[in-house]
Amino acid sequence: MRCDVLTIFPELIGAYLDTGIIGKARQKGIIDVSVSNIREFASGKHKETDDYPFGGGPGMVFKPEPIFKAVEKLREDGRARKVILLTPQGRVFDQAMAEAFSKEEKRLVFICGRYEGIDERVRISLVDEEVSIGDYVLTGGELAALVIIDAVARLFSGVLGDESSKEAESFSWGPLDYPHYTRPREFRGLEVPEVLISGNHKEIERWRRKEALRKTLEMRPELLERIKLGELDKKLISEIEEEQ
Ligand code: ADE
Repeated sequence: MRCDVLTIFPELIGAYLDTGIIGKARQKGIIDVSVSNIREFASGKHKETDDYPFGGGPGMVFKPEPIFKAVEKLREDGRARKVILLTPQGRVFDQAMAEAFSKEEKRLVFICGRYEGIDERVRISLVDEEVSIGDYVLTGGELAALVIIDAVARLFSGVLGDESSKEAESFSWGPLDYPHYTRPREFRGLEVPEVLISGNHKEIERWRRKEALRKTLEMRPELLERIKLGELDKKLISEIEEEQ
């Protein structure tokens, strides 16, 4: 993944990008994430990035000029780029979008909005795609950019310690994740399910699949409509229904 993040709060996202799995992936050069401060491209003594909305109304609007200049500066290297605006008005981000971004040949540019909105001319002239991370309103796009970078980065080989964990977890096959246990075998009267200690890998796999289906039926039944259930899944679901 190669991307640039445009924000007025580079320090806000810098700590996350320098730490843990994402920090290591950047150090190893598996992902390349650069952050630019939009304010550096603002003109005038006060380097204002926002202004009052034409037509009146509450709040401030992100000025077009600093964002245009910031994107133009990035484009000086001649590399192809896809510009993504983080906004609650965008298409809602999901695992399929994360996978598409991970395969994107172009360098991604994430524009993090702030204030009440962004001058429409930015959207008209610069933006290729608008993305939201969910149906709620944040104070800015920075957290959204981090969510996307994180979800995309972990799809690259060498980013996660154990490559198989990426496949085993939720959403790569549809249902939610199965329950996990570690030592001790008994904690405050709660025992680890017997099957997980049995050493019977086939039974463990069956149990995990069943519990994943149980969790999905309980929390997100609509996910099961989107995936193709095999014969075993159908059998496990009828077992779960009988147990209820
Ligand atoms: N900026 C503010 N809210 C947002 C959201 N839900 N997704 C992406 N960017 C945002």
